[in-house]
Amino acid sequence: MNIKKYLSDQVALALTLAGVPEGSEPLVTQSTRAEFGHYQANGVLPAAKRMQVNPRDLASKVVDQLKLETVAEKIEIAGPGFINIHLTSDWLARNCEAALADDHLNANRNAEPEIVVADYSAPNLAKEMHVGHLRSTIIGDAIARVLEFQGDHVIRQNHMGDWGTQFGMLIAHLEDRLTAENSLTEVELEDLEAFYREAKIRFDEDAGFADRSRAYVVKLQGGDAHCNALWQKFIDVSVAHSEAIYRKLNVSLTHQHIRPESAYNDDLPKVVAELKRQLIVVQDQGAQVVFLEEFADKDGKPSVVIVQKTDGGYLYATSDLAALKYRNDELQADRILYFVDARQSLHLQQVFTVARKAGFVSDSVSLEHCAFGTMMDADGKPFKTRVGGTVKLAELLDEAVERARRLVEQKNPELTAVERDEVARKVGIGAVKYADLSKNRTSDYMFNWNTMLSFEGNTAPYLQYAYTRVQSIFRKAGVDPQNLSGELHLSESSERALALKLLQFNETLDLVARECLPHLLCTYLYELASDTMSFYEACPILKDGVDPVSKASRLLLCQFVARTLKEGLDLLGIEVMDRM
Ligand code: ARG
Repeated sequence: MNIKKYLSDQVALALTLAGVPEGSEPLVTQSTRAEFGHYQANGVLPAAKRMQVNPRDLASKVVDQLKLETVAEKIEIAGPGFINIHLTSDWLARNCEAALADDHLNANRNAEPEIVVADYSAPNLAKEMHVGHLRSTIIGDAIARVLEFQGDHVIRQNHMGDWGTQFGMLIAHLEDRLTAENSLTEVELEDLEAFYREAKIRFDEDAGFADRSRAYVVKLQGGDAHCNALWQKFIDVSVAHSEAIYRKLNVSLTHQHIRPESAYNDDLPKVVAELKRQLIVVQDQGAQVVFLEEFADKDGKPSVVIVQKTDGGYLYATSDLAALKYRNDELQADRILYFVDARQSLHLQQVFTVARKAGFVSDSVSLEHCAFGTMMDADGKPFKTRVGGTVKLAELLDEAVERARRLVEQKNPELTAVERDEVARKVGIGAVKYADLSKNRTSDYMFNWNTMLSFEGNTAPYLQYAYTRVQSIFRKAGVDPQNLSGELHLSESSERALALKLLQFNETLDLVARECLPHLLCTYLYELASDTMSFYEACPILKDGVDPVSKASRLLLCQFVARTLKEGLDLLGIEVMDRM
C-alpha cells in the first residue's frame, strides 16, 4: 500500500466530481507538521486559479466528494484552500497488519515492470579499483536492489575499462616478467598500481620497450594470439581484484554482470560506418568526428565528439555508442541508468545525443545519468593518500573493519571472538557505505572516519544498533518474532506516528526508484529509528502492569520496525546482526 498514491487517487476523483476540469493535479504530500494532519492535498489552489473561482469554496466542494469514511477521521480545510487529512488509527492499524502478513511488507510490485539497465562500478582494469569507483559501485548497487524489490527486471552491466593503448605496455612488461619468472602466480600482479608504474617508467625511459609496446597495441587489436593471451592473463588477475572488493563490500555484482569495453570491439567499425552513412559524422583532420551544435560553447563553437582517431583507433565514446545500441537492441531496455562521476556529464550527454540522432536508441527509452560528486578528505580536498597517491579501496575497507573492531571491543567486551569479527565487518563496511549513500549523491562528500562510525546520528552503526535493540526486546520477552500475531491497537500518539512512518516505507521506495536517490531511503530509516526511540520512551512494553493486549500489539509494532529496518538496510547492501 502506497498511502500517498491511494490518497492522490481519491482526491483526483473528488476533484473531477467537484467539476474541476482535467489536467489538475491533486498534489498530495506528507504533512510536515502534525497539526496539518498526516497528509495534505494542495491541488485545489492552482485548480481554483485556473477555473477563476474562490479556492475555499472549491475546497469544500472537493471535501464533500471525498470518500474517505473509514480512512480519515478528520478532513479540514486550512488556509486559502489546503485540505488536511487525518487518518484513523483503525485504518493505520489494519494496514500495518496487512503489511506484516506479507513477506514483501506490502511493498508495491510494479504492475508494469520495466527492463532497467544499471551501468555501475566500471573500474579500469589497467589499475586497481580506487575510491573513485566506490561511489559508483555502492550507489548503483543500492538502486539496482530497490528497483528489483519493486519488481523491475534489472540488468547489471559492469562496463569495465579493459581496452585501450595502455595495455600495450602492460602486456609487454608482463611478457618480460613471465619469461624471467616463468609463471603468472610468481609475477607481482598483487599490486596492479605498482605494476602499472613500473611499466610506465620503462615506457618513458626505454625507447625499445616503448616501440614494442606500441607494436603490441596494434597486434592486440589485430587479434594476435600471443598478445591476446597475455592480455587475457592480465585481465583475469585484475578482474579477480575487483571481485574480491565486491565480496568485501557486500555488493551484488558478479562475474556474469561484466560486459567490458572490449565486448564491443567488433561493433565499433559498424557504429562508425552507420554514423557515416547517416552523415552524422564528418572527417576532420583525418579523424572521424561529430559536431554537436546543442553543446556549443559561449562563442557558438559546437562541441566535438571524436569517434575514430587518425590512426584508425576508436575511443571511449565509440564504445559507449556501441553499448547503447546493444542495450537497446539486445537487452531491450526501457530505462538505462549510468552511475558515473559528474565530471563525465558532458561525455554522457554527447553520447546520448549522438545515439538519439542515429536512432541507436528508441525515443521511448529513458537515458539517465545518475551523477555523483567527488569524495573529499576532511580538509575538503579530493581524497588522496598522505603521499598524494590514490587510496586503494581494499586498504580503506580493511581499515574500516579494523576501526569498527576497536569500537566494538570497547562497547561490548562480552562478545565472543567470532561474534566480534562478524560485528566489526558488518559495522565497518556498513559505515563506509552508509556515509556515502546517506548524502545527496549530486554533491561532493567528505569522508570522515569519526562521523561515519559514530553510534549517534544518521549513521549505519546507529541503525544497526536500533535493530539490535528491537532484537533484545524479543529476547527479554522470550518471544520468537516470527510467531507473533494478533491485532494492533494504536492508542498512544507515538504509536500512531510510528505506524504511519512504517507504512511510508513504500512511498519512500517509489521515490528512491524514480529519482535514483538512495539518500531518501537513508533519511527515512533514520527517521524511523528516531520514531521508534520516541515510541519506546512513551510506551512501555515489558514493564509490569502493561496489559497483555497492549503488550502484544507493541511487540507487533516492534516486529514491523525490525523487518523494515532489516529490509531497508538490505536494499542499501548493509547487513544487520542480533547483538553488537
Ligand atoms: N571506466 C570508466 C571510468 O573509470 C567508467 C565507465 C562508466 N560507464 C560508461 N558506460 N561510460 O572512468
